[in-house]
Amino acid sequence: MQVTVVGSGYVGLVASACFAELGHWVICVDNDTAKVAALERGETPIHERFLPELLERHRGKRLKFTSSLSQAVQQSAVIFIAVGTPSTDNGDCDLSYVEVVAREISRSVSGYKLVVQKSTVPVCTSEWVRRIMVLNGAPENAFEVASNPEFLREGTAVSDFLFPDRIVIGANSKRAACLLQEIYRPLTDGSYTRRENAIPEPDQARIPARLIVTSTRSAELIKHASNAFLAMKISFINAVGNICEAVGANVEEVCDGIGSDPRIGDRFLSPGIGYGGSCFPKDLKAFRAVARESGYDFRLLDEVIRINEEQCLRFLRKVRSALWTLKGKRLAVLGLAFKGGTDDVRESPAITLVELLLREGCEVVAYDPAAMVKSREVLGNRVTFAESAYDAAEDADALLLLSDWEEFAVLSLPRLRRALKYPIVIDGRNLYDPQMMGENGFMYYSVGRPEAFPKENSEQMPQLRKAS
Ligand code: UGA
Repeated sequence: MQVTVVGSGYVGLVASACFAELGHWVICVDNDTAKVAALERGETPIHERFLPELLERHRGKRLKFTSSLSQAVQQSAVIFIAVGTPSTDNGDCDLSYVEVVAREISRSVSGYKLVVQKSTVPVCTSEWVRRIMVLNGAPENAFEVASNPEFLREGTAVSDFLFPDRIVIGANSKRAACLLQEIYRPLTDGSYTRRENAIPEPDQARIPARLIVTSTRSAELIKHASNAFLAMKISFINAVGNICEAVGANVEEVCDGIGSDPRIGDRFLSPGIGYGGSCFPKDLKAFRAVARESGYDFRLLDEVIRINEEQCLRFLRKVRSALWTLKGKRLAVLGLAFKGGTDDVRESPAITLVELLLREGCEVVAYDPAAMVKSREVLGNRVTFAESAYDAAEDADALLLLSDWEEFAVLSLPRLRRALKYPIVIDGRNLYDPQMMGENGFMYYSVGRPEAFPKENSEQMPQLRKAS
């Protein structure tokens, strides 16, 4: 099928590459001509596993890039809108980019078009898109608007797209639903995974993918409610972790115990320094605004947000309790991305913490496997960027682990110990076993678990100040 995807951000670019991978002919439109030129040259603007391979495989063949939306619309029966929906100052979802695109599409409607909303948007957006298009001259019976939310996680977005838990199609007519079902058929009949050059199947992939067909309003709500629920799980376990710290229990053991109940599940129960990224913080606020507008005061979401914001401050107190004073301390920071596996630093709790530490007068030497360029744009020359984890650790008063990169979980502990001025590790992602860290000579602090100290000086090194 010939499809257009408007927007070449995380969702738009991944969707474009993956639709091409499923055998469709794809035009990816972006009004940023420099970005389009870079994509045409073969550059991959984001750090995303398997994306360079798919772009390489399909660029110039099944996948074309352009800045001309009108031409793309004329050539395609199905147009996906995947442009940004940032937060306004009061937490609402800013839909102005969606509106601009809807207006532009309406000028090129000739023959039947299905306009599909893929960005995360408040409930009823599909109906607004329809209204805007009609107001701008699109013939009422010539097009339909559907909702097809994405559940991609950055870092594993390509695998998530091609091996999804579910595909949600929100359509108010059979014709629209059938068109979208046709697009996803290789995933719902399992044929994609049987292809010789299919990307590797992740563990626990659900094949074939489950298809859920709903109204547009339900589909829009599914997306917001999913993200809000996942964020709630994270805030819940962070709160439980705080209690564990206070009473000397271990949150990992607690997670194992509660997560083995299939009604709860053990995924998304990792405590840390709080959730970040371009989705959860924004979507929680937007969902709260949606609820408010619909007349419901969703106070549970206020609390999820509050716990999350507090989690960073608690970690800062933990750093202080481990180091006593902060001013003038040289700190090695490993991880700046909002999580491991991505170069995205938007709403990254790691960046928030670095900012707080700088304000306290610390000197920060940071390293991230992929997010250095984007971090430099935010932090400038206020921090020193190191070449590797060990370089960052050189002569530092302590080491802070702030993103859960796999490579940070397998560092050489003797090498790290030799590099650090003091063997102090404060782990915001629980990447190491406390007992093992103590045995390797570290004073080790993590989230929701008991601290560990080297045997020889466990008595001289009491906790300097209570974290809470
Ligand atoms: C999230 C959702 O997981 C996707 O399903 C959704 O499609 C996407 O938002 C979106 O709306 O576009 P993403 O933002 O890429 O995906 O990242 P997650 O893997 O969900 O992590 C979000 C944050 O929560 C990160 O800061 C991560 O470190 C943190 N997190 C996650 C925890 O602190 N604990 C956990 O157990 C899991």
